[in-house]
Amino acid sequence: MTTSRQIEMTVNGRTRSMAIAAHHTLLEVLRDDLGLTGTKECCLVGECGACTVLVDEVSVDSCLVLAAEADGACVTTVEGLAVGGRLHPLQQAFLDTGAVQCGFCIPGQLIAARALLARSPHPSRAEIEEGLAGNLCRCAGYEQIIEAVLAAAALDETGDRAVADGDAHAPAMGDRASTPNADVAPQ
Ligand code: FES
Ligand code: FES
Repeated sequence: MTTSRQIEMTVNGRTRSMAIAAHHTLLEVLRDDLGLTGTKECCLVGECGACTVLVDEVSVDSCLVLAAEADGACVTTVEGLAVGGRLHPLQQAFLDTGAVQCGFCIPGQLIAARALLARSPHPSRAEIEEGLAGNLCRCAGYEQIIEAVLAAAALDETGDRAVADGDAHAPAMGDRASTPNADVAPQ
């Protein structure tokens, strides 16, 4: 017999109350119950990063987290990155640098990169490599992905180039409010 449990999460800025199967992962609930298929299902053992989401601004492998553990939390998926129909600067940078090949890993890469820029707005190349080390790209687009994160880090919140790299007045990417929007990720 399946045990169900009532939980409430804020997902991409929207409060969601639902009954879930107690053994279901956050990945299953996001994809199957909420239809947020931008978050990808792949290895299911925490090896590939395709399922990366933010839980209270911390990037996690959603295949390893029970949905019940996210009760009361704020969850951000790739669908929550764009604001008001405008791509998040990271999304635009990924497109501009040709980082999106088959696209399967990109939602996880974007979320991991967003977490990185929130804690380190102007990361070094080594920091980016380390910050995205848990996200595999089968198309081996790592060089373009790193370029994209560097390019996004050089932009201010409006998507314009900051006055100078390291400009203390340039807001951190992680300060952006997340609101529901179009899913720009592959299904
Ligand atoms: S599907 Fe979660 S880490 Fe691979
Ligand atoms: S773009 Fe194809 S797996 Fe990364």
